[in-house]
Amino acid sequence: MTTPSISVSFLFIYALFLGYNVLELEASHHIFARYQTSPKVLHKALVNQAYRTGYHFQPPKNWINDPNGPMVYKGIYHLFYQYNPKGAVWGNIVWAHSTSTDLVNWISHKPAIFPSQQADINGCWSGSATILPGGKPVMLYTGIDPSERQVQNLAMPKNLSDPYLTEWVKYPKNPLMLATPMNRINGSAFRDPTTAWLGPDKLWRVLVGSRDNRVGVAYLYKSKDFDHWNLAKEPLHSVERTGMWECPDFFPVNTDGFEGLDTSARGKRVKYVLKISLDETKHDYYTIGTYDVVKDKYFPDKGMVEGDEGLRYDYGKFYASKTFFDDEKKRRILWGWTNESSSVKDDVLKGWSGIQAIPRSVWLDKSGKKLLQWPIKEIEKLRENQVNWPSKILEGGSKLEVIGVTAGQADVEVSFEVSDLKKVEVLKKKHYNPQLLCSKNSASVRGGLGPFGFLTFASNCLREYTAVFFRIYNHRNKHKVLMCSDQSRSSLNKHNDNTTYGAFVDLDPTQEKLSLRSLIDRSIVESFGGGGKVVISSRVYPTLAIDNQIKLFVFNNGTANVKITSLNAWSMKKAQIN
Ligand SMILES: *[C@@H]1O[C@H](CO)[C@@H](O)[C@H](O)[C@H]1NC(C)=O
Ligand SMILES: *[C@@H]1O[C@H](CO)[C@@H](O)[C@H](O)[C@H]1NC(C)=O
Ligand SMILES: *[C@@H]1O[C@H](CO)[C@@H](O)[C@H](O)[C@H]1NC(C)=O
Ligand SMILES: *[C@@H]1O[C@H](CO)[C@@H](O)[C@H](O)[C@H]1NC(C)=O
Ligand SMILES: *[C@@H]1O[C@H](CO)[C@@H](O)[C@H](O)[C@H]1NC(C)=O
Repeated sequence: MTTPSISVSFLFIYALFLGYNVLELEASHHIFARYQTSPKVLHKALVNQAYRTGYHFQPPKNWINDPNGPMVYKGIYHLFYQYNPKGAVWGNIVWAHSTSTDLVNWISHKPAIFPSQQADINGCWSGSATILPGGKPVMLYTGIDPSERQVQNLAMPKNLSDPYLTEWVKYPKNPLMLATPMNRINGSAFRDPTTAWLGPDKLWRVLVGSRDNRVGVAYLYKSKDFDHWNLAKEPLHSVERTGMWECPDFFPVNTDGFEGLDTSARGKRVKYVLKISLDETKHDYYTIGTYDVVKDKYFPDKGMVEGDEGLRYDYGKFYASKTFFDDEKKRRILWGWTNESSSVKDDVLKGWSGIQAIPRSVWLDKSGKKLLQWPIKEIEKLRENQVNWPSKILEGGSKLEVIGVTAGQADVEVSFEVSDLKKVEVLKKKHYNPQLLCSKNSASVRGGLGPFGFLTFASNCLREYTAVFFRIYNHRNKHKVLMCSDQSRSSLNKHNDNTTYGAFVDLDPTQEKLSLRSLIDRSIVESFGGGGKVVISSRVYPTLAIDNQIKLFVFNNGTANVKITSLNAWSMKKAQIN
């Protein structure tokens, strides 16, 4: 859940705009002029909806944030999400509702949950679905009560014969979980209940995100009937100096294979994942560990890093994510909110803000040390006009255009092979922050082995482009692969967040192929490196590279040659969404 500080940042951004320096593009070749965009060009792109996505989930207009209660019921996928029916900024939040049979095309229904009870009269915030034995779904969600306290509530479908479950009724006894002076929970920091799971003692368990000063906490509640909930003596887990934990997610994963597990599954070949959305940094990080269901404690495995430096689902824009078990296809699917990187003023002008990332399958890597993620198979239905290259050498300092696909709405996958390891740059220091390394050594800084990858959303003459690339280093005689999504040249409009994102990909480029897949969709590039070991999503708003002016290249700005062993690209059809 986002905090209601939007109006403050709105004022701040608005103030920035008053000082907006209007300079025509052609005005001069002065360095500053290069980064200005003509307000007319930008205005046209915004009102013509140049940035509206073709196959990502979004409603026709207005603000969206967290995905809520994703589930599958009788063969129909449900997605609820935080939605402002009245505008493109956060506020008036209800649970909007859409359904799908393939996770690609969606129809919308009326809002499922909205303020209607004392226990949620001031807001209906995030929550999760639990499928009770017998297949009956219920929702636990956060309500804001008349004293502005965050409380946990229950809602259920009115008519289980309605396959779309369009009507939801609130449990009359809400709220079911409450912050009190006795339990010492802070009622301003108590939200986002998880999917519940069943223990061997037949008690349901659920987590609620919180904080105690700066200690991030996942409180554990137990119940035998979903009605009376008791706070466990100790939280499932907590970590110092991490601040508020939003949208916790706790689920089992198989130690061998792709197959997903029901949230209540247990067994020898099962590990657990705890994901936290860190309110202070707006990143989703996770650890892998073990869960002692008797002591009700979670223990991250040795070597797992907790907090913002830990493993992330996505090193770009991706927050408040949530998984669910798809029992139809035996997989665990991850949904996450992809926020805009544009100014509030631009959001208001285009009339919407926020999309959902393409749902991803998640499973445990063979190493047991991280999760792998891959776009759901169904998204491939949208592929058309395949372009396929034979293997070829990509010389140092060169680029090749991928011709034949709609470059602004595409799915492209390439595999590289590297052999000329003499030219690899050396990393001396022990600890490197990969994001800083990506900012310092952007695509425009010539390297040894790399940068090589894609130039997406490229304009004529490359005045704008978003580079997604690898760069290989040597660190103590080991190869280290850096992956970056470089937004520093994405747009001539300088009012966007242009942070460059990066992470190390845990693979040996001399032994394994180095693959990169990017889902490109009008204002987003979601990139999967090393077969889903690292994912980075960037939101970008070019002013020249729009509509049919967008180009796509494979580039190599290192001095060493690299080999493209395969390249496949497709235009992506528009999905039917809402
Ligand atoms: C429940 O939904 C089914 C299927 O849509 C419908 O036929 C039935 O009339 C509904 N029942 C009620 C009480 O609304
Ligand atoms: C409770 O949480 C709110 C919001 O996170 C915070 O501003 C406040 O200081 C907290 N109160 C206490 C007593 O920790
Ligand atoms: C959403 O994006 C805006 C603009 O880049 C930023 O100010 C805000 O912190 C972001 N919020 C989250 C939750 O990512
Ligand atoms: C490649 O590096 C040179 C500097 O050596 C830079 O001028 C150029 O912009 C870079 N190309 C890309 C695509 O970033
Ligand atoms: C990137 O953003 C910063 C801060 O908003 C701004 O000062 C800078 O000009 C931007 N850079 C480019 C290349 O647009």
